[in-house]
Amino acid sequence: MRFCFAYWFLNGLILMLNTVYSSSIKPNILFVVIDDLKPILGCYGDSKAYTPNIDNLASKSFVFTNTYAQQALCAPSRNSFLTSRRPNSLHLFDFNSYWRETVGNFTTIPQYFKEHGYHTYSIGKIFHPGISSNFSDDQPYSWSQKPFHPKSIEYENSRLCINNDGSLGQNLICPVAVEYQPLGTLPDIESTKEAIHFLKKNKQEPFFLAVGFHKPHIPFRIPQQFLDFHPLSNVSLPQNRFRPSLLPTVSWNPWIDIRKREDIKKLNIAFPYGPMPDETIKKIIQAYYASVTYTDHLLGRLLSIIDLNNTIVVLTSDHGWSLGEHGEFAKYSNFEEATRVPLIIHVPHMTQKRVHSLVELVDLFPTLVDLADVSKPLKICPRNVTQLDTCTEGTSLLPVMKNDKIKGKTAVFTQYPRPGVYSTWYPDSDKPSLNEIRIMGYSIKTKRYRYCEWVQFNRTNFKPDWNKVVARELYYHIIDPKEDLNLSDRSDGQLKHIMGRLRQKLLKGWRHCRMDSLTKKTKN
Ligand SMILES: *[C@@H]1O[C@H](CO)[C@@H](O)[C@H](O)[C@H]1NC(C)=O
Ligand SMILES: *[C@@H]1O[C@H](CO)[C@@H](O)[C@H](O)[C@H]1NC(C)=O
Ligand SMILES: *[C@@H]1O[C@H](CO)[C@@H](O)[C@H](O)[C@H]1NC(C)=O
Ligand SMILES: *[C@@H]1O[C@H](CO)[C@@H](O)[C@H](O)[C@H]1NC(C)=O
Ligand SMILES: *[C@@H]1O[C@H](CO)[C@@H](O)[C@H](O)[C@H]1NC(C)=O
Ligand SMILES: *[C@@H]1O[C@H](CO)[C@@H](O)[C@H](O)[C@H]1NC(C)=O
Ligand SMILES: *[C@@H]1O[C@H](CO)[C@@H](O)[C@H](O)[C@H]1NC(C)=O
Repeated sequence: MRFCFAYWFLNGLILMLNTVYSSSIKPNILFVVIDDLKPILGCYGDSKAYTPNIDNLASKSFVFTNTYAQQALCAPSRNSFLTSRRPNSLHLFDFNSYWRETVGNFTTIPQYFKEHGYHTYSIGKIFHPGISSNFSDDQPYSWSQKPFHPKSIEYENSRLCINNDGSLGQNLICPVAVEYQPLGTLPDIESTKEAIHFLKKNKQEPFFLAVGFHKPHIPFRIPQQFLDFHPLSNVSLPQNRFRPSLLPTVSWNPWIDIRKREDIKKLNIAFPYGPMPDETIKKIIQAYYASVTYTDHLLGRLLSIIDLNNTIVVLTSDHGWSLGEHGEFAKYSNFEEATRVPLIIHVPHMTQKRVHSLVELVDLFPTLVDLADVSKPLKICPRNVTQLDTCTEGTSLLPVMKNDKIKGKTAVFTQYPRPGVYSTWYPDSDKPSLNEIRIMGYSIKTKRYRYCEWVQFNRTNFKPDWNKVVARELYYHIIDPKEDLNLSDRSDGQLKHIMGRLRQKLLKGWRHCRMDSLTKKTKN
């Protein structure tokens, strides 16, 4: 009975909110995706960060402190949150397929708003370019006008970074003088200009403007003055910068794309476990923080001309980045560092709040539909995902935003593929293509634990074989938030019991960890 009451009360709240909105004009939506950004932001409690503009936005917004990507790789993560379906449902774990051609004609967030009277426009990197968005950023479905890509992105991997001896290299660390760059600019500067131009001339209709910043993705090609905000002498090394001795080999990501950059290649670091020299770790940390400050600076310019009274602003990232923790760099894993992302949502006339509930990026689509109130809430996708084009495998966050008593999901899910148990350069263990995938690591994170099981995976029918377990990992986040101690082999009876329960939950999947099923359980 209590559950029913809570449920109807909640629905009542949503209805009330809906009425408030429908009586006024539709809010605009600014959707900001910052590539490879882990939450090293002032508003996430990082005292080394310098991000005044994002922090200022956060002070007027909902700040979700426990948000997770469904896979720590650009294309699978972006397609996942843009369609609100998980990598397993899209059959996309690499860069090489387009869901409309391979699985189903699934609706994307911008497409949905376009079909509900919004003018939708993509600037910079929203969809991952290439096959996974049909070489067109999912045109003509998602956008009202041709997506904008900065011209200078063409030079992103050119030999433009200055070495100590004055020669030029294709480096990882690449502070530059912007005026000497080809075209005299950088991609994110171009994107910001285009976004400002759009906002200034487009005043009448409700818009869905998506702006995708390319930094802090590697290479760290940024205006050199941003390094000054993060002097090397102030950078400290992560305490857990060593490979944990109990880490299963399959969960390690050998950061091949970092090794390929010329400045890192010169260091002749042993494959696959390194280590990276301490001095270089410091420089990477400095460059990453400086890239974030640079992005924050551009975002500040953009936000300064946004009317926050009628614009919903979403700021997030496709996944995190390991910045030396565990001796790892880049994304490509199931660890906290690679999967946890910032999520900030500003809603006109709603108060700011920190929300600690567990959140997944697939929740963005149903949340935006509820917040903008463009139509009825999205339906949950059926088990046979091809039966419904417009649906969600996430949960609207509106209830946890409106009501502190609602706890949200009991667990979040993320996954990562590998070609084999040991790290290899060919095939690339960091990002195997579908025909190379042999193993999938499925991870479930609750408030207290992360449990990850690496199992054999059939790349033809996209099914894991839960009887063929390659490795397990168990981390107790209450005492080990950095995931340095894999407890999965401990013979301790209580831990075994906990692991058994987490495994059951992992096998049952996300449908059993949604908010409403939680409410039902609490009642029983
Ligand atoms: C896919 O959906 C779009 C938008 O609803 C529609 O225009 C198109 O005809 C659909 N394509 C197929 C193959 O069903
Ligand atoms: C993908 O792009 C190709 C080439 O432009 C086009 O022929 C095809 O119809 C597109 N696929 C879909 C589903 O729109
Ligand atoms: C560097 O660290 C010192 C001491 O903690 C601090 O006073 C200073 O503001 C820092 N510099 C920058 C640019 O953050
Ligand atoms: C936004 O709303 C606040 C109060 O809700 C009001 O004080 C402020 O003037 C408004 N700003 C603009 C630009 O309309
Ligand atoms: C899923 O639904 C589609 C469309 O209704 C149908 O063609 C297909 O056979 C179904 N697949 C399964 C495995 O039930
Ligand atoms: C993978 O699935 C396909 C299709 O169901 C099946 O034919 C194949 O034997 C499976 N492969 C393995 C290694 O189990
Ligand atoms: C961690 O996982 C691996 C693979 O399952 C296992 O071999 C190793 O012993 C585990 N370490 C601990 C401490 O359980």
